[in-house]
Amino acid sequence: MDRSYKIDEWKIIEEGFNPEKNRASESVFSIGNGHMGQRANFEERYSGNSLRGSYIAGIYYPDKTRVGWWKNGYPEYFAKVLNSPNWIGIDVSIDDEQLDLARCEILSFRRELNMKEGTLSRVFSVKMKNGITVEVNTTRFVSLDDHELGAIKYSVKLPDQGARLSFTPFIDGNVVNEDANFGEIFWNESNRSTDNGNALLVTTTRKTNFTVAFASNYAFYRNKKEIITEPVLHSREKYAGHSFEIEARAGVQYTVYKYAAILSSENNPVNKIGHLATIKVQEASSKGFDELLDAHRDAWQKKWDESDIVIKGDPAAQQGIRFNIFQLYQTYTGDDKRLNIGPKGFTGEKYGGSTYWDTEAFAFPFYLMTSDLHVARNLLLYRYRHLGKAIENAEKLGFNNGAALYPMVTINGEECHNEWEITFEEIHRNGAIAYAIYNYIEHTGDSSYLEDYGLEVLIALSRFWRQRVNFSEPKLRYVILGVTGPNEYENNVNNNWYTNKIAWWTMQYTTECIGAVKSAAPAKYKDLVERIEFDEKIEIAEWKEIINNLYFPYDEDRDIFLQQEGYLDKLQQTVDNIKPEERPINQHWSWDRILRSCFIKQADVLQGLYFFGEEYDTETIKRNFDFYEPRTVHESSLSPSIYSIMASRTGRIDKAYELYLRTARLDIDDINKEVKEGLHITSMAGTWLSIVEGFAGLKVKHQKLYINPLIPEAWEMYSFMIRFRNNLLKISINKTKAEVENLSGKRVCINVGGEEKKISAGNTEFFKI
Ligand code: BGC
Repeated sequence: MDRSYKIDEWKIIEEGFNPEKNRASESVFSIGNGHMGQRANFEERYSGNSLRGSYIAGIYYPDKTRVGWWKNGYPEYFAKVLNSPNWIGIDVSIDDEQLDLARCEILSFRRELNMKEGTLSRVFSVKMKNGITVEVNTTRFVSLDDHELGAIKYSVKLPDQGARLSFTPFIDGNVVNEDANFGEIFWNESNRSTDNGNALLVTTTRKTNFTVAFASNYAFYRNKKEIITEPVLHSREKYAGHSFEIEARAGVQYTVYKYAAILSSENNPVNKIGHLATIKVQEASSKGFDELLDAHRDAWQKKWDESDIVIKGDPAAQQGIRFNIFQLYQTYTGDDKRLNIGPKGFTGEKYGGSTYWDTEAFAFPFYLMTSDLHVARNLLLYRYRHLGKAIENAEKLGFNNGAALYPMVTINGEECHNEWEITFEEIHRNGAIAYAIYNYIEHTGDSSYLEDYGLEVLIALSRFWRQRVNFSEPKLRYVILGVTGPNEYENNVNNNWYTNKIAWWTMQYTTECIGAVKSAAPAKYKDLVERIEFDEKIEIAEWKEIINNLYFPYDEDRDIFLQQEGYLDKLQQTVDNIKPEERPINQHWSWDRILRSCFIKQADVLQGLYFFGEEYDTETIKRNFDFYEPRTVHESSLSPSIYSIMASRTGRIDKAYELYLRTARLDIDDINKEVKEGLHITSMAGTWLSIVEGFAGLKVKHQKLYINPLIPEAWEMYSFMIRFRNNLLKISINKTKAEVENLSGKRVCINVGGEEKKISAGNTEFFKI
């Protein structure tokens, strides 16, 4: 574990600069507003090791697929969210020497992410090669109040002597993605201009034709007094900026305010986009940094007021959960149904900013319970809009009759992933999409969603499962062959328990929903039946036949569900047999060795028990937990949270706590040694779940709300807020009691540890625990 950052309840703090850790810190200190994001790269030039990253939601490029051996059915491209023009750049030089932290002596350095306010700041002092000491103080944010704005305050002081100080704020479109398959340049310039105050660069993506306008301007101050500059204008291919200089006096603070408006053609007319960006940035600069910052802070305060989790007595745990919540809201705010949640959000290039099953299985319940109903609905509608493509995707693979296979990785509905063992085999992803619909209906009671959209998706998914199974003569059962379960450390397995379970459940749930929609909205149902040529009698009968006869691998001796057929043929070992220096195994072992080992990457059987735990007694869950947890390396960030929840559900609070810290601090402590690639955004929702569904034991059963609270020994109390059926509840738990405050306008019924109470609007009830 790497405790590089200070423990603080509202901040992440890095004291001292470690160039080796710079890429990791650039990820951890990223800022975003759900529509754009920026790694914690320096404003001034940095020639050391860095991954420059500035990302704009929804703007992608179809990067041509590269594989060793092409197989039919592979997608042509991987859609990637692009590294976009650098809008944060401010070159600084002192007596003609560039300020560059890789080329000077660092006397002090502090980087700070303020999660309450959503700002990133640095304070550092360096001695340049020319002997001049320089003190720098910077703050920046991308506005949560206006998602097209960013602002930077960059102050420089020369404490010991005067010198010529020059600044060059600029926009630079000469950027690339590190993971571009063929080293392609993704952006073309479509417009550029520079005048005395403003710089404008309008760029358009090749192939996809998205246009983004970057307009910036600046103000320059000596202490508190504005200085009017006569800048040198820079305008060259994909680059626009200004330089100005001053004879700086010792001990005086010089500050550049840089404002940027970033407008995309997704939200603005292309023919006016440059003009609109320029107007917007001028309005921003006339408001000034402090006013913009106030509005941004207020927007964050509103988010925290409705979603903060407070943990008393354990600052490391507190810091962890706030970091997770903060990053989730920096990634997705739910106001645009075209957008989704990439596993790395806007913090790195890995996973291409695309949508994975992570959204439905992990992120969805977080937004469902913390945000207004339209947010979760937008996430569901995203998949609904992609249904046609999912049907096409299944057709490409040989399925028919409207069967849908959603992609493993997508931005626009098309499959982007090209490893056969995942693209063709990790089909369990379809199940999570069905489960999210179920979750939504249970939590919100919004059955109109089912009638208008959800049932259509469910039928398409069940049609897929019906065609994906086959009848095994030796077993006299239906089987699902050649799949990859959530555990990607094994491929092409037969009868993965989790996949079979979620396929079984989807057909079952679809059948129930057909009954419900048919009676509640017969006209809509009739219309759907005609539109998708649904043969109710025959298709339901086929599903029922499979539901009654699907094979589930099981080991009688141990009385556990088997992850897949043949799993026990593997040499059985537990994770404590792996040498610590060989962890994580995916960075040390050959893929062949990993595939042959019994080690499990992430919750697999346990993922199924997490979704469908209600069907099993606690003893069954314990037996499976005790067998699988010691074999699980948790090398997917998605794993510890599920195990933590299941440990809580079986009353193993210490284990649940250990796994909670692992998920909550995964990135802050770089536990999987890969944070330099970006943060694990989707697993952060799992962290939230491990408190709310784990320790607090929250569940919704037959549309009723239950909690069954536990509290880790180290905690004095914890509290969280959830939304349930349009009500907002604040739940606080300490060692002896649970307190439920109804913050909404309607009476709410809740069952706490077996005791059911109705709480009227505005009231609080206490429950002994
Ligand atoms: C996990 C997948 C996940 C992906 C993106 C992989 O390491 O095994 O389950 O979808 O990361 O988070």
